[in-house]
Amino acid sequence: KSIVVLISGNGTNLQALIDAIEAGQIKGRIRAVISNQADAFGLHRAQEANIPTVVLSHRDFADRLSYDLALMEEIDRHQPDLLVLAGFMRILSDRFVEHYGGRMLNIHPSLLPKYKGLNTHQRAIDAGETEHGVSVHFVTPELDGGPVIIQSRVPVFSDDTAEELAARVREQELSLYPLVVKWFCQDRVKMENGEVQVDGKP
Ligand code: GRF
Repeated sequence: KSIVVLISGNGTNLQALIDAIEAGQIKGRIRAVISNQADAFGLHRAQEANIPTVVLSHRDFADRLSYDLALMEEIDRHQPDLLVLAGFMRILSDRFVEHYGGRMLNIHPSLLPKYKGLNTHQRAIDAGETEHGVSVHFVTPELDGGPVIIQSRVPVFSDDTAEELAARVREQELSLYPLVVKWFCQDRVKMENGEVQVDGKP
């Protein structure tokens, strides 16, 4: 399958996907990595892997919709079967989300529906959670609200800092996202009528 990945930053999740593809675990190919930030380190990771990169800065556009339309045009040049959000720090318009309905995934560092939005680790600590984690979900117009495909849980220890907890979650992220992308590329995960169907047998 053809994959396009959107990033804004470090790109550790992107790297995990690149590694899994190079190891032959995912039957897919990343056709392009697109960033809204020119200095995103993930762009270097893509270049190292000989993947075409594009920078499309939201600052060059008057409003959200005109940016999203330009982004759609850029993405669609690569005809993706799957669009992967990997730390893409933008809220997407309904028009964009509907265009990629059922073929856009996001990874969010919380056990959704808990802690949508930002600063999830600190908020979980502040709330006295004993368990936290990460979710991979299909993207729907509600922010971090699309149906969850899979979650991975980690313990929260009483003396955890947000950084320590983030690192524990991150370790899970790096195996979880490639797993779901692998399933998607095998047609083993779909969204139908807003619900997820997974055939996750090994
Ligand atoms: C990750 O924490 C991911 O869960 C969230 O954004 C972060 C991206 O990190 N959606 P990276 O750019 O993949 O390193």
